[in-house]
Amino acid sequence: MKKYWEILERYKISLAISPFLILIAVLSETVQPLFMARIIDDGVIQRDLLVVSEVGLHMVLISLAGLLFSVANIYISSKTSIGFGTDLRTALFDKIQQLTFNDIDRFNSASLITRLTSDITRIQHIVLMSMRILLRAPMMLVMTVFFVVRINTGLAMILLVSIPVLSISVYLILRKGFPLFLKVQQQLDRLNGVVRENLINIRVVKSFVREGFEAGKFAKSSDDLRDLVIKASNTVVTMFPVMQLVMNLSLMAILWFGGNKVVGNEIKVGELISFVNYLTQVLMSLMMLSVIIMAFVRASASSERIVEVLNAKPSLVDPPAGLAGSHRIREGRVAFRNVSFRYEGGEEDVLQDVTFEVNQGETIAVVGATGSAKSSMVQLIPRLYDVTKGEVSIDNINVKDYHSDELHCKIGMVLQKNELFTGTIADNLRWGKQGATQPEIEAAARAAEAHDFILSFPEGYDTMLGRGGVNVSGGQKQRLCIARALLGKPKILILDDSTSAVDTETELRIRRNLNALLADTTVFIITQRVHTMQSADRVIVLEDGRVEAVGKPDELIRTSEVYKEIYYSQQITLQ
Ligand SMILES: Nc1ncnc2c1ncn2[C@@H]1O[C@H](COP(=O)(O)OP(=O)(O)OP(=O)(O)O)[C@@H](O)[C@H]1O
Ligand SMILES: [Mg+2]
Repeated sequence: MKKYWEILERYKISLAISPFLILIAVLSETVQPLFMARIIDDGVIQRDLLVVSEVGLHMVLISLAGLLFSVANIYISSKTSIGFGTDLRTALFDKIQQLTFNDIDRFNSASLITRLTSDITRIQHIVLMSMRILLRAPMMLVMTVFFVVRINTGLAMILLVSIPVLSISVYLILRKGFPLFLKVQQQLDRLNGVVRENLINIRVVKSFVREGFEAGKFAKSSDDLRDLVIKASNTVVTMFPVMQLVMNLSLMAILWFGGNKVVGNEIKVGELISFVNYLTQVLMSLMMLSVIIMAFVRASASSERIVEVLNAKPSLVDPPAGLAGSHRIREGRVAFRNVSFRYEGGEEDVLQDVTFEVNQGETIAVVGATGSAKSSMVQLIPRLYDVTKGEVSIDNINVKDYHSDELHCKIGMVLQKNELFTGTIADNLRWGKQGATQPEIEAAARAAEAHDFILSFPEGYDTMLGRGGVNVSGGQKQRLCIARALLGKPKILILDDSTSAVDTETELRIRRNLNALLADTTVFIITQRVHTMQSADRVIVLEDGRVEAVGKPDELIRTSEVYKEIYYSQQITLQ
């Protein structure tokens, strides 16, 4: 909530002016029935046209003035609410950028998208409504009650009954509606999740002819949402007939008692008519109030979800500034000491008691069956995740003591599931190093064996890539990602199965280029290919999250069961 106030503070002038504008607008509206009473009692009944036109002119002027103030308020409240929504969205987006893989897994990215879009829009809407109606309704209520009591205290007693009856029934209905609205919001999340997954994997869906199944999944989610919305709306719409009933009963009471008073000459006809007008205003303002309370209830669900993200403490924190500034990665020696790791919410450790040391400039192949936690292990080095137990260190300093910028700067990583972004090829490569020059970019692309195919595109380095790099082949995408990682001249380079879609010939050339370009860089290569393993300085063999063996490739053929199996199985397929 602190963040809300911080943002609202930027708009304090508008927020302070708005109540005055509303007050004047409300005043000009609530005096109207008084003038009307005069027109009827002193003008129409006395047949005095002068009074009619004089008072009528006043009425017109006053309502024009009121209108002017209303419009001014609408203008500043629209401006404020849009500004507030934009600022809040920016704050939320910035926060999401600080979150780690772990946090994003926890929130789930579909839900984050809903929070950034429809939840924020709802809050923005609430700010707008609050500035226009929230104050207006109570002001209106107070003023009309004041005028009504002045006209006739006896008649005003009727309001003493109808206002509480209305308030209580609205309260009861809203209390029932609140949990339903929360559920609606959660279901909307689920629906967004289904849509998002479908769109990201649309190629897979089509190639497996699963459109029917996916459509069914969507329909189910969509139907659930519909049912919930109907249920929630049903609860709330009962409110309107209740209000209508109370209003009509009050009107009848006023006409009955008021009629008697007119006959007994206690009040005048015009006064009775203005009384009826006031009654309508009172009930209208109550109705407005209930609508806005309802909107608040819905928005509070949205708000909770936004605040949850805003308040989330990123699970990785940078060390205190003084310490962080002083550590630099100079050599790139990596050591794991008794490292265990478990994903948040996971049942068991995916890595258990992993220990090894890697020297500067070594090339280490990481091998093991699928699911043996190879990717999980290397992600601990740049702190994409934090260890659960033990310690990962670089140059004898715990990775937690480095500033995250230093880690990301000096460690080049090509993830197994890599993504490119919308933009030109050159823009994408520049992610690896901001402000890289064209020769630098080309050198990195050459090393990744990407230069030639990039030039084969008519627009070369200025070729636009679609979202996620849809218009390049799998192998081309992998090479662009390698070039991107090379551009920063990292001290440690991690390639997670990054050449799986590249032919062996090209892969060999990439490896040679790497050796020439980054002689001092420590390289981790996760691979399934025997000749890549064989050409590494050393190999770490993982089995079910444990280190089965570490050593030179030729030794491992003799000493490691797992390595032997991989080695010979590929020898057979090669023959
Ligand atoms: N984000 C995640 N959340 C929870 N569990 C995960 C996550 N990522 C991986 N796992 C689990 O961790 C284990 C190890 O997965 P990991 O991706 O590290 O294996 P891998 O050796 O890289 O496999 P592959 O060769 O298929 O890439 C698996 O059992 C997997 O289910
Ligand atoms: Mg993997």
